[in-house]
Amino acid sequence: MRVLLTAGPTYEPLDPVRFLGNRSTGKMGYALAEAFATEGAEVTLVSGPSQLPNPANPLIRTVRVETAAEMFAAASAVAGEADVWVFAAAVADYRPAQIATEKIKKSGETLTLELVKNVDVAATLGQQKRAEQFAVGFALETTNELAHAQDKLHRKNFDLIVLNSLRDAGAGFGHDTNKVTVLDAAGQIVNFELQSKADVARGLVSLILARRAVNY
Ligand code: CTP
Repeated sequence: MRVLLTAGPTYEPLDPVRFLGNRSTGKMGYALAEAFATEGAEVTLVSGPSQLPNPANPLIRTVRVETAAEMFAAASAVAGEADVWVFAAAVADYRPAQIATEKIKKSGETLTLELVKNVDVAATLGQQKRAEQFAVGFALETTNELAHAQDKLHRKNFDLIVLNSLRDAGAGFGHDTNKVTVLDAAGQIVNFELQSKADVARGLVSLILARRAVNY
């Protein structure tokens, strides 16, 4: 089985020394890569900037990228031959319209940046997903969580969507633990207890493998 995994944040450059980014650490995505490899899968881990070292498991090939555009290029290159796609990256939705070639100097009291929309890696690849391929997305919502996650699953052609809880201490960005809820297209829900990201990853991988077997 071949798996394409996106993980970590993206950094969108503003000038030679600054970027727009987010607080994703890549921990959940890297834990998923390890869990898939433990099951014998060959994993391509397309990772945005993360402090984590490349996984040592020889079944995991790590491709380092910075921007959403680079993440899309690296993911597209292997998506066709992957059986499972997991989009765990926190991709920046927008990037600066212009990248200044020199450091932007301080001038007025305010500074307005123009941003342009980035490619949606998951949604764009979702349009070319074949029937036997299985796609999993992540979502972090603050209102009407289940309804928004369900809508995102349909829009991006996911088979499953993993909803990150924001309400629980110890879950989400930077933590070693996570609490997630998984939804499928039929609206079926699986709740995971708060546990280590490694355990969440193992649970998600078993669920994905079981669902994939049923889809076949
Ligand atoms: N995603 C992606 N490329 C993007 C944005 C998001 O691949 N440019 C993927 C994420 O990896 C995740 C899923 O899409 O699996 C949901 O991301 P999210 O940011 O919640 O979705 P958005 O479409 O940006 O929705 P929102 O309007 O809530 O920001």
